[in-house]
Parts: sequence; C-alpha cells; structure tokens
Amino acid sequence: MENHILGRLTLEEKAALLEGTDAWYTNSVPRLGIPRLHLTDGPHGVRKVRSAGGGFSVSANEPATAFPTSATVASSWNPELAFRMGEAIAEECLAAGVDVLLAPGINIKRSPLCGRNFEYYSEDPLVSAAFGTAFVRGVQSKGVGCCVKHFAVNSSENFRFVGNSVVDERALREIYLRAFESVVKNAKPYAVMCSYNQINGTFASRNRRLLTDILRNEWGFDGVVITDWGATSDRVEGLLAGCDLDMPGGVWHNRKSIIEAARSGRLPAEVLDASVRRMLRLIERCRSGKARAAVPKGPDAPEQDGAAPKSQPDLEKHAELACKIARESAVLLKNDGTLPLHGGERLLVVGEMFEKMRFQGAGSSLVQPTRVITPKEAFDRRGVTYVYEKGYRCFDPRRDARLEQAAVRAADGADTIVFFGGLTDLEESEGFDREHMRLGDNQTELLNMLLATGKKVVLVLFAGAPVELPFFDGLSALLYMVLPGMCGGEAAAALLLGEAAPSGKLAESWPMRPEDASCHADYNRGPVARYYESVYVGYRAYDKAGTKLRFPFGYGLSYTTFQYANMAVREEGGKVVVTADISNAGRRSGAEVVQLYARRLSGAVFRPDKELVAFAKVSLQPGETKKVELTFDKKELSFWHVGLGRRVLENGVYELLLAASAADIRLTAELRITDGEEAGNPYPPEVAEAYAMPPRDIPPCFGRLTGYADTSETPSPAPSPGRRKNRKPELTMETPLREFRRTWTGRLFYNGVMRSIRREYEKALKMPDSLERDSRIKNTHFLIRMLPFESIRTMCMSSSGALPYHVAEAVVELANGRWIKGLSLLLKKDKPIPLPKETAPGSADG
Ligand code: BGC
Repeated sequence: MENHILGRLTLEEKAALLEGTDAWYTNSVPRLGIPRLHLTDGPHGVRKVRSAGGGFSVSANEPATAFPTSATVASSWNPELAFRMGEAIAEECLAAGVDVLLAPGINIKRSPLCGRNFEYYSEDPLVSAAFGTAFVRGVQSKGVGCCVKHFAVNSSENFRFVGNSVVDERALREIYLRAFESVVKNAKPYAVMCSYNQINGTFASRNRRLLTDILRNEWGFDGVVITDWGATSDRVEGLLAGCDLDMPGGVWHNRKSIIEAARSGRLPAEVLDASVRRMLRLIERCRSGKARAAVPKGPDAPEQDGAAPKSQPDLEKHAELACKIARESAVLLKNDGTLPLHGGERLLVVGEMFEKMRFQGAGSSLVQPTRVITPKEAFDRRGVTYVYEKGYRCFDPRRDARLEQAAVRAADGADTIVFFGGLTDLEESEGFDREHMRLGDNQTELLNMLLATGKKVVLVLFAGAPVELPFFDGLSALLYMVLPGMCGGEAAAALLLGEAAPSGKLAESWPMRPEDASCHADYNRGPVARYYESVYVGYRAYDKAGTKLRFPFGYGLSYTTFQYANMAVREEGGKVVVTADISNAGRRSGAEVVQLYARRLSGAVFRPDKELVAFAKVSLQPGETKKVELTFDKKELSFWHVGLGRRVLENGVYELLLAASAADIRLTAELRITDGEEAGNPYPPEVAEAYAMPPRDIPPCFGRLTGYADTSETPSPAPSPGRRKNRKPELTMETPLREFRRTWTGRLFYNGVMRSIRREYEKALKMPDSLERDSRIKNTHFLIRMLPFESIRTMCMSSSGALPYHVAEAVVELANGRWIKGLSLLLKKDKPIPLPKETAPGSADG
C-alpha cells in the first residue's frame, strides 16, 4: 500500500508530505486521495485551535474537558486513571476531527524550578513510564494517535530553544530515556516529538544517535518523529538523522532544501522514501483507527461512509472523571486533625483562588474548559456557611493592605481559616523557569498575618510544583491540589468536608529550597547545562546525601492510617513478586499507595540509595486487610554499564524495601541475585570517587564521565564562525534574541518585537475581569518571558511561514551591520512551488 502510493508521488509532493501547514495540519495530496492529518495539544485536554493564526488564548480554542495536569494525575499513583483520561480525551479528539494528540509529556523533573513541571509526571522514570504508557494506551485504544514528547533531556524552559544538555550515557539511559523506552516498547505510540534542545552538542531534531540508533534500531519504534513546533535546525540533516515531519511547517526554505538535496544526492532517495513511508503509515493508522472507532455499535446504528465519526462525547461523564481524578490525586501533606472539617466550625475563607481557582498551567497546554467548578461554587452548592475575604489578587503580585486588613479583621469571628493560595501563571508556565520557589509575598505575608491571629489555618494549595513553605509549622493542615483541572473546586470541597479521603502521594520530592536540588550548581546558568549530578536525580540524590526535605518522594497522608505486615518475596521466571498484608487501622475508609524500592547493598558502581521498582494502590474499609502483590522484572535492578554499552544485572544481595514513602520504610527483605553477572567497575578512579556521593558541584572529572574533554567549553550551542579577537561573537541564527541588543539594528529589531507583545499585555490588563482576560495576561506574559531566549532560527521555524527564512537571515546580517547583504536578502524574491492542495487535481502528476 505505502509502496504503491510512494511510487506515484512526485518529489515535491514527498517534500510537502513531510511538513505541516496552517500550524496544526499536515499537507494533503488530493490527487492521490492522501488526506491531511490534524494534530493538536495537549496533555490534559484537547486544545483545538479555532483559526490558523490562533494562539494560546482560551477564546481561540474550542471548549474541551480540562482534566488535571500530568503532575496531578501522577500523584494519584493510579495509572488506570491516566488510561481512562486518555480514552476520554480521545473521544473528544474524534468529535473534533483530531488525528494525533501532542501528548503525553514524559520528561523527567530534574529541578523543581522548571516552569513546565506541571506538564510532566515525575522525577522518577518508572512512574513517568507507568503513566505515560497508560495514557497512550487509553488514547490509542480509540483510534487516535499519541505523539510522546519531548525527546529528550529537556529539563529547562529558559534555554530550551538554544540550550545544550550535556549528560553522561548512564544518566541518559537510566533516567532521561528510560520512560521513553518503556512507553515506546509497551504502548507503541504513533509518533514521538523531538525536543528543541541539543543533547551532547547535537540538536534533537538532527540527532541521529537519538532518533535512529536508539529510538528506531534499539527500541523498534516504527512511527513518525515530529519536530517540536519550530525545532528544525537543518531540515536535510534532520531527515538524515531520522526526523520525519517538520511542524508547524510552512517554511518554504525547508521544503526547498529537501527538494534540492534530493536532486543533488545529498539526501539519498531511500532516506527520503523511508520518511515518506512512515508518514503514509501514520496517515493510514489514523484513518483505520477512526474507521474502527466508527464501526456501528448496534443493529440500528446508521450506515457509515468511512468518514470520521462525529458522535458527541459525553462531556458530563468526562467532567465527572476529571473530578474523580482530582479527588484521587490531591495530597494531604499535613493534618493535626483539623481536616476533615466537621461542619460546626465558624469558617473564614481567604484567598482569591477560592473563586479564581488555578486549575491548569500556561502555554501550549492551555485548554478552554467546558466549565469550571471553583471551590466557591462547590461550597455554595453544598450550602456551607462561611465568611469570604479575598485577601490578595491572583494577577497582581503586590500586597493590598486593605484586603489584608479585612481578612485579618474577619479572623476574629472564625474558628478555622481556610486559605486558598498557590502559584500563579505569571510564576509558573511553559516557556520560562521559576526564579525561586517562593509563593508571592502577597500570599506569604497574609498567611503569616493570619497565623499570628492564633486561629487554625488550613492551606489549600494550587501549584504545579513544590513551593517553599516558611510558615509550615504554624499550619494546621495542608491540602495540595496540584493543578486539578476544571472540576478541582468540587474535588477540594469533597476532601475538605470529608466526603472523600485524600489518597494521593507526591510523585516528586519536595525540597526545602531550590539550593537543595542536586542539579542546582548548574541549573539555568547558561545555555550549556551540565547534568553533573548524573543519576542522582530527585530522591535518588536526596536520600543518598541525607538532604533534609520538606516532604519526601511518595509522601502523603489520609484521614486514616495503614499498617504493613507479612512481607514475602518469591521469584517467578524473570520476575520478582513481593506480597504483604496492608490494613486500614483507622475508622475511615481510605486508599494507600504502597511503594517498593530496591537497594544494592554493595556493588561495583556508584548507585542511588534506593530506586522505585513497583507500586500499587489499595482501597481499604476501616479494619480491612488486603494482600497486595507487587511484581517487577529483575532487570529493574540492573544499571547501565558504560563500558559494555548495555544494562547489567549484577550478582549479589539487594534489599527490597516496602514503604509508605521514600523516607518511611515499613518492611524489608533480602533478595539474592545469582543469575546475573559480575559487572566490574567501568569508571576511572576519580569518577568513582567523585560520584560515590551526589556531587554538590560540577566535579573536575565531569568531562571524563561524559566523554567531553572540556565541559566548560564543549560543546557550544552557537558556534560562531565569525569569532574575532577581542570582539563579541557575531550574532547568528542561533543567538538568543536578547543578545541582539548588542548592536544598534539588533536592538531596533528586538525592541520592536518586545514592544508589540508588551502592548498586547497592557491591553489584556485593561480587559474586564474574565477567564479570557486571565488567559491573555498569562499568554502575553509567557511570550514576554520566552522570546528573549528564542533564536531567530526557532522564530522562523515556528512562524508557519510568517517569518520567511531569508528574512530571518537578513535580520541577522543587518544586526551584524552588513547592510548590503542584509538588504539583498530582504529583497530576495523566491517563488515557492505550490503545495499539492494548491494544484489542480491531476496537474502535478509526475
Ligand atoms: C511545545 C509542545 C507543543 C507545541 C505545539 C511547543 O512549544 O513545546 O509541547 O506540543 O508547542 O503547541
């Protein structure tokens, strides 16, 4: 089938098939009946953009169910929920005519400061893999494709466009690629999205080792590699490396380079054809997936003509599911018995998030919700009696003495204060990283003032990532909702009022301060990011170093308590099966997340203190006991041997730890491995010594660990051909925009771009209070923070043709003061070959 069509395609049509058009579509070839595909974001709901030019404003998107974000879902420790959420999102995709969902994001949380952590599952690859796999299976079970992203080692937003992640092979394999490997092998996603950044000196979009050697040859991926929007560095190099589809496309320069390279032989026909074949297979998969979904379900079902089904999804059911997930994912982090509220207390509610709940993040994942249930609405529906004081404003970081005083005065008449607070979208978003881990002063100071009244204070926290909690000791209770989706208010009310018991646990460690993170010495210091901590990420580092945390990985309370007993271990085939009896020792029903970690007692190479190998969630009535069974493959105990270039299961004794969190080990048992191998230590002595414990700084031997001789210099993200002595390096297509201010013309260009966005921001500030205003504020703010770090190349590549390549080149030339070259590029007239959809049927046959 693919071969049959392939033979009939012209070179121009092949090039067109491998790029996007109108931002969210691929090109069709009408004369051969090849349809276009519709791709949309994103992980927690369908973001179907209304118009081609539509951006990130909610009004530009079709309404859809806004489910809890991935950070939230992972806190449920129940991958079944990710599966069901995937199914529901796919149903909405089918109704909206969407073929491929740009989700899930399974990057590892390296630092709590990464602005996009809310879109990712965990710091742990096993958790990320479990949720990623379940989600992809859920979506694809309905015939919609998933595009798993962002491949790979994309742990910073500030430098995502130009940055270079320098990472050693073992950390790459054990931490950063592991979830991708697992999802690719177990869920078979239709597509993988390569990230913007470089990995060890080569942009992901042209990284042959990553896209072909590892992804396809080692893992057997047979789908399409899609660029992140604007990630193309060199289109032909990209194809040679195994990157198939250029999105959002519309960059004529890229299509032309494919055509020219194919004609000159630089791009061998078989390489081009392999990509086209993969693209045709994707189209076929989507077409047959939709046809399967359209199969009439009963004898009276109407005839289908093969077109996509347009049956309406049950949005009411999806809202209920969104609420259930939010309820199961919230994490109770502290409770002195104040929660659940018993209903008799005089309640003071403080914080604008009570009526303007933050339920999702900002950036490409922004969903226009079908509706929002705020905590206020949920309280009112239940007839809860309370006094409400705003206390602070969400989109204004300044303190407001009048609001603060009113809240403090109102505390006089209250027994319990419930404070709704958290991070705002101006602090946490795609496109930029957080500069610190604090909440806004307007919230922290107000909390301190309320605590000083001596009343009980319950904090209900909405944030996609951990925050500093300097007032923690004074709190009576802390309920962390993460970013709970559009029904989060309903979930919060049910949990606060005891209609449901919290059962979420943290899927990431919660450090006291950002300085405690194991990557802190080189996080966002510049475009070269040295992943000097190697495999010591999250609890793998904290537990080894004995770092004092606010909350450990896997931590969470309930309204009841659980006991663990009778741990037993047996081997079955290559699997290890651990059983234990878990009992509900309290008077309320609840669910416990049981975690199983493995520890290598003595081994050839440095290892984290322990690593998660399995987990299970068990629901228990008061007094009930259930036997849980946790199974894992022995290869989970192996490590990546850099000398042998493969995983090695080391013989010897391992300790298995059954735990309620990474810091709460309840039962242990020994496991002796005898069918593995004697590994031997592949590291030079100085590396073995430096990494015996997580390094606090970049060790001098980091170069030996990664294989780069000099990691302070190597590899540079923007090797500038024109480096001259005693002069600033030239501006290039890769230079971050903010550096264009170095020259007069560059400044003119930069200021012009920034001024126009700031104008939009100002306009948004003046809009009447509404969801639309909030989303415009956050999205223009997102651009203000993100653009200074973009390069002209990524601007051009993501512009859908609005910024043609020769104009981008002209800007660089002009900014460097080469007027004649710049102007001649600017005036260059190129006559693009029309796209297949623009040609009359039959006319382009070749
Ligand atoms: C994001 C992707 C997203 C794409 C399309 C990019 O900026 O990194 O995650 O899918 O935009 O919106």
